[in-house]
Amino acid sequence: MSDITERMAQTASAMVAGGKGILAIDESLGTIKKRFDTIGLDSTEENRRAYRELLITAPGSEEFISGMILFDETIRQKTGDGTPFPAVMIEKGIMPGIKVDTGAKDLAGHPGEKVTEGLDGLRERLAEYRELGARFAKWRAVITIGDHIPTDACIDANAHALARYAGLCQEAGIVPMVEPEVLMDADNDIDTCYGITEKTLKTVFQALYSQSVAVEYTILKTNMVISGKQCPQQAGVQEVADKTVRCLLNTVPAALPGIVFLSGGQSAQLATAHLNAMNQSHDNLPWPLSFSYGRALQEPCLKIWSGKSDNVRPAQTTLLHREKCNSLASLGRYSEMLEQAA
Ligand code: 13P
Repeated sequence: MSDITERMAQTASAMVAGGKGILAIDESLGTIKKRFDTIGLDSTEENRRAYRELLITAPGSEEFISGMILFDETIRQKTGDGTPFPAVMIEKGIMPGIKVDTGAKDLAGHPGEKVTEGLDGLRERLAEYRELGARFAKWRAVITIGDHIPTDACIDANAHALARYAGLCQEAGIVPMVEPEVLMDADNDIDTCYGITEKTLKTVFQALYSQSVAVEYTILKTNMVISGKQCPQQAGVQEVADKTVRCLLNTVPAALPGIVFLSGGQSAQLATAHLNAMNQSHDNLPWPLSFSYGRALQEPCLKIWSGKSDNVRPAQTTLLHREKCNSLASLGRYSEMLEQAA
C-alpha cells in the first residue's frame, strides 16, 4: 500500500470503529437559518460559531464520535479562546470532515428533480481543505420520490457526480463519504423506498467502478429503507431494519469499510431505535452499520441551548446523551430504558 492509500484505509476504518459514529454539523447557510428559526435565533456568523463551538467542545463526545462534518465557514472558525475548530477536534481525537458539494439545484428538463453541483474547482478546494485538517469529505445527492420520479436521468446524473467527486477525493488522500439520499418526505410506502434505494445504490456503485474509485477507501452514507412521512401505513422498527439491511446486502460491495445513515427527518429516538434493530438482529454483516446524523443528534440539544450561553452545559449534556444512545445502537446494545434515565 502507498502512504496515501494506507492513510485513507486508516481514516475509513477509524470513522466506523466499534461504537463510534459521525456527527453532521455541516448545515449550509440556508439550512442553519431554518434550524435557528425553530428557536427564534438570528443566523449571524457569531451565533453559528457559538453553536458549532458548543457541539465541537462537548466534553466526552470523543468516546462516541469519530468524526464531524464541517461546512466551509465552520472549518475556518475558532473557539472563543482563538483555537481553530479543526485543531480542537484533532486534539480530542475527532477527525475533521468537510462538506464539499455546493448544493442540490434543479435538474434541467426534469421538473421536481435535483442534481448536486460543486465539481468545478474541486481539486483545488480539496487541497486547501486538506491543509485545514480535513480527513474525509461529504457530497450529498438528493433523490425525490413522486409521480413518475425519480427518472433514470436524475439517478444517473447524481451517481456520475458522486463518482467524479469521490475520485478527486481519493486523488487528494481524502476519504469520500458518498451520500445518495432518497428523501422520506412523500406519501410512498416502504417497498417503493426499497426499490428506489436499491436502484440508486446499484447505479452509484456502478458509477464509482467506472470512475476507478476504490470502494476500500470509501464510506457510504445513505438513507434507511423507510415509509414516506406522509404515508398512512408506517412500517414498524423491525421492518425498517430488515428491509434496510436486505437492500444494502443486495447492492453494497463487501469490501466497503463501513456504512453510516443520515436521519432524514426521523425523530431522534426513532433514528436510534432503527439503527439498534439493524445491529441487534443482523450478525456477521460485511460492514459496520453506524450513524452520521444531523438533526437526530442535534435537535434536542439545539432546543435546550436556544442561543443562551447559560444553557451551553445542559445542551452539551443532552447532545452527549444522544451520542451515547447511538453509539450503543451501533453495537445493538441500546434500550428505550436509557431514555427514561436521561
Ligand atoms: P440529517 O441526519 O439531519 O438528515 O442530516 C444528515 C446529513 O448530513 C445530510 O446530508
